[in-house]
Amino acid sequence: MCGIVGYIGSENSADIVYKGLEKLEYRGYDSAGIAVIKDDKIHIRRSVGKLINLQKNIKNNPISGFIGIGHTRWATHGKPSEENAHPHTDCSGKIVVVHNGIIENYIQIKQQLQKEGHKFASETDTEVIAHLIEKYYKGDLFNAVKSALKDIRGAYALSVICSDDDSRIIVARKDAPLILGVGKDENFIASDVSALLAYVRDVIFLENDDIAEIKKDSIKIFDKNGNEAKRTVQKILWDAIQAEKCGYKHFMLKEIYEQSQTIQDTFRGRISVEDNKILLETVKISKDFLNKISRICIVACGTSYHAGLVAKFMIEELTSIPAEVNIASEFRYGTPVLNGTVLTIFISQSGETADTLAALKLAKEKGATTLAICNVIGSSISREADNVLYTHCGPEIGVASTKAFTGQLTALYLLVMDFAIKKGTVSEDKLAYLIKQMWDIPIKVTECLKQSEQILEIAKTFHMKKQFIYLARNINYPIALEGALKLKEISYIYAEGYPAGEMKHGPIALIDENMPVMVIATKSKVYEKVLSNIEEAKARGAKIIAIANINNKEIIEKSDYQIFVPEVDEMFSPLINVIPLQFFSYYVSTMRGCDVDQPRNLAKSVTVE
Ligand code: AGP
Repeated sequence: MCGIVGYIGSENSADIVYKGLEKLEYRGYDSAGIAVIKDDKIHIRRSVGKLINLQKNIKNNPISGFIGIGHTRWATHGKPSEENAHPHTDCSGKIVVVHNGIIENYIQIKQQLQKEGHKFASETDTEVIAHLIEKYYKGDLFNAVKSALKDIRGAYALSVICSDDDSRIIVARKDAPLILGVGKDENFIASDVSALLAYVRDVIFLENDDIAEIKKDSIKIFDKNGNEAKRTVQKILWDAIQAEKCGYKHFMLKEIYEQSQTIQDTFRGRISVEDNKILLETVKISKDFLNKISRICIVACGTSYHAGLVAKFMIEELTSIPAEVNIASEFRYGTPVLNGTVLTIFISQSGETADTLAALKLAKEKGATTLAICNVIGSSISREADNVLYTHCGPEIGVASTKAFTGQLTALYLLVMDFAIKKGTVSEDKLAYLIKQMWDIPIKVTECLKQSEQILEIAKTFHMKKQFIYLARNINYPIALEGALKLKEISYIYAEGYPAGEMKHGPIALIDENMPVMVIATKSKVYEKVLSNIEEAKARGAKIIAIANINNKEIIEKSDYQIFVPEVDEMFSPLINVIPLQFFSYYVSTMRGCDVDQPRNLAKSVTVE
């Protein structure tokens, strides 16, 4: 997720664009840049790192002009560097692009353009857009952008300027937000309203496949059929803080709701339903290597550790490779038996967790092959590992991990399917089935997100409880752990996740009318066993909240409260079942007056032991 800003009017666009980028820095902050047109020339300033570095750059080398575009980056393709910072230009340097999104087929486009003589200066997917526009440019920027978009597959929010014509900015969007700020003899472009509020309150939310020409005194929008479209001008009443959270009260709530998009962004360009393929261009693990390894050893902390526990089930079921999961702070001080026949996987949203990084270094010392799953390109863990598979979730600001967790699960599903294909342990039909299941997850997640009101009502009943037990079995047991962690870390209620079958070995002694029990009871091969566990707890006075599939009638008489979720294949159910638990912990925390986004004693990235 990146932030883009544009301006055309009578003020110095560099100042306005920079100030807009400051408001969008939460969307990405590994590099930034601004381009303006002045005296029929393009002037660009780009800097790696935080936005303040761009400010210093511009202070030392001022730029000004009445038309400009800018970008603050969250890298998805190509490490954080000045060369990879936006804006990107074509070969002539006349056409300049800033982009938020993912171009799925950028490799194929880049190869074709290189054959046609285009020279590339960056590793990004975005740069292909600038050269594609150049290919079609015959003097009319609008038509060139329109033609270029026909070749592109993926998500984009795009702003384009050309030094041949400083009277207009061309913008377009598909599956990434782009908003126009309507001013008087000036107009604005931004990824979200927070960058506009200092100047305008009248905004237009572009719709998918819209392409628009923005002049200082006019805005013309065209739909995908090329017809001029009338889009409603809306008045924004948010204040600046609310706007940064896109109107959500907390970043955590915003990030819960982003999960349909971030799951899709993580598999976008990596699965092909048409030709039944998994495409992981950054993972260089061969079939021969997979056939010789003795086991897979996963290492992580906290929520990322829970993602690893889910992955164990996937790995062993789909590839028959033995898998173990370790907590990094234990692993690094243990005596793990590692060698060249072990694949070690390190899961970390931040890519900076000290224990996980130390464990990775230990694994490398012992000769194990390493693979990292990270959300931050260029982070220490992603740089240290032999292989890396990035989640494309954008910055996760809330300390409690939500979208990064489902992004990690998505990346792990892709990885395990890739391994299964290479090992030949899944048939073509099974693979097609799994890919289709993954493809449909974002829609199922969206259905889940609609349960928030029901969950809020249940949270009202339980928010003053002092303790909670979370129960589940098999591939959902890690989700019981994750749900309990979420409740602990943001509402400070003591909560334990347990394998439901383990209760009779001691913990059931805890059950009485003061111990509420959350149970994951969705369709699975152990569903009947979970029902029995619910009855055991209920018989001892516990109030039961059951996560169950829509249309499950029997659960209503077995439990006191129900949260219904769409049915998916058991293997993918963790992606769905975790969402109500995220909402539940969020609502309980807010009702208890806790600091949801920055809970006490916690940090977003634990870079110390
Ligand atoms: C998750 O809600 C917690 N904030 C925490 O457990 C986190 O998952 C853990 O610190 C690992 O962080 P990482 O994924 O950045 O390595």
